[in-house]
Amino acid sequence: MNLTVIGTGYVGLVSGACFAEMGNRVTCVDVDQTKIDGLKQGHLPIYEPGLETIVERNFKEGRLGFSTCLADTITESNLFFIAVGTPPGEDGSADLQYVLAVAREIGQLMTQYSVIVDKSTVPVGTADLVHAAIQEELDKRKVEIEFDVVSNPEFLKEGAAIDDFMKPDRIVVGTESPRAQDLIRQLYAPFNHNHERTIFMGVRDAEMTKYAANSMLATKISFINEISNLCELMDVDVENVRRGIGSDGRIGFSFIYPGCGYGGSCFPKDVQALIRMAQGVDYVPEVLLSVEKRNQQQKRWFTRQLEKRFDGNLSGMTFGVWGLSFKPGTDDMREAPAKVLLADLLAAGAKVLAYDPVAMETAQHELPAEWFESGDVTLVGNQYEALQQVDGLLLVTEWKPFRNPDLAAMSRTMRKKIIFDGRNQYEPDYIRNEGFEYFGVGRLG
Ligand code: UDX
Repeated sequence: MNLTVIGTGYVGLVSGACFAEMGNRVTCVDVDQTKIDGLKQGHLPIYEPGLETIVERNFKEGRLGFSTCLADTITESNLFFIAVGTPPGEDGSADLQYVLAVAREIGQLMTQYSVIVDKSTVPVGTADLVHAAIQEELDKRKVEIEFDVVSNPEFLKEGAAIDDFMKPDRIVVGTESPRAQDLIRQLYAPFNHNHERTIFMGVRDAEMTKYAANSMLATKISFINEISNLCELMDVDVENVRRGIGSDGRIGFSFIYPGCGYGGSCFPKDVQALIRMAQGVDYVPEVLLSVEKRNQQQKRWFTRQLEKRFDGNLSGMTFGVWGLSFKPGTDDMREAPAKVLLADLLAAGAKVLAYDPVAMETAQHELPAEWFESGDVTLVGNQYEALQQVDGLLLVTEWKPFRNPDLAAMSRTMRKKIIFDGRNQYEPDYIRNEGFEYFGVGRLG
């Protein structure tokens, strides 16, 4: 099949590369010339394990192409995936300007029956807007061309994107058109492995499914974080509680790890967008509002612990921070708890030595330049350099090299031997036996 993917962010690039890997001819289109030039030379705009190999192979073998111009691909393709960004607007609702601009462009150029697939996470009702935008352009051209708009939300996780795309739990497709359904079924046939994973439904149902899935997962995290806060106040070890409840098949073990809050490009944005959608239909989404609020408070877990431990006075202290990305396996710092932590530490007059195995470059760009210029934040070359003469270690992201660290080496360089473990990576007794003070999320103090 011949298809075009518009937008070379996480979702677009991974989808395009994986469709090409299955033998399709794919053109990835993006307005960003530097990004496209880079991709043609094998430079990926994102860090994602395994993606580079697939992009390189399919580019070389001629199945994957890159272009800044949709007009170049339009004659060959009748399947368009819209995978451009839907950043939160000022009120938290998803900003659809890029999606609709692409829709208009497709309407201006389309020459044959086409299926336009919304792959970006978009609010309920967006497919109708995309349909209207395309139709308006066709009307201007005074041509009659049939087309269908399909919702096919993407559930991949950063850091595991290739596996998630290639072996999905499910493929959600929202369409009322049998013709579009046939085309999409054919495209996804190789991804269905031994059993059918595609779930067909109405367009609006599919749009809501994406928000409901992410909000449910965010709810699980905020819920266990709430329990962990109670545990801290009531002398209970949340790790035992987690094991105790996770073993109930109805609850399950996934996404009930307490920590210093969820981040990333999806959960915070999607929960907020669903809240806005609810408000749009005059509904107060009490659960979602609390999920969001709990998460914002949870990102200040370190700050609360530090203030308690140091009687509210962090001025003149230096802390070592391990991990800046919002989770391991990615260089993405969007909505990362580390950002909130660093801002709090600096406001309290403390300094930071920070290290992340992959996100150092992102940190250079995304953190305010004055933090570096003032010397308040220093990015260092390895995890132990971040512990030179510090008043404590703050573990923010559970990258693998942090999981079994050299405690003896740490003892030698840390001014105060205190570990604040925002991801419950360490066994408190073991760490304490090695002569450290230890604080975990919801763990016995
Ligand atoms: C998520 C969804 O999992 C994915 O299906 C969707 O397509 C996009 O959003 P992603 O944002 O890549 O994926 O990360 P994920 O692995 O889900 O983690 C999200 C955040 O939750 C991270 O900050 C992580 O640290 C946090 N988390 C996760 C917890 O705090 N506790 C948990 O138990 C699980």
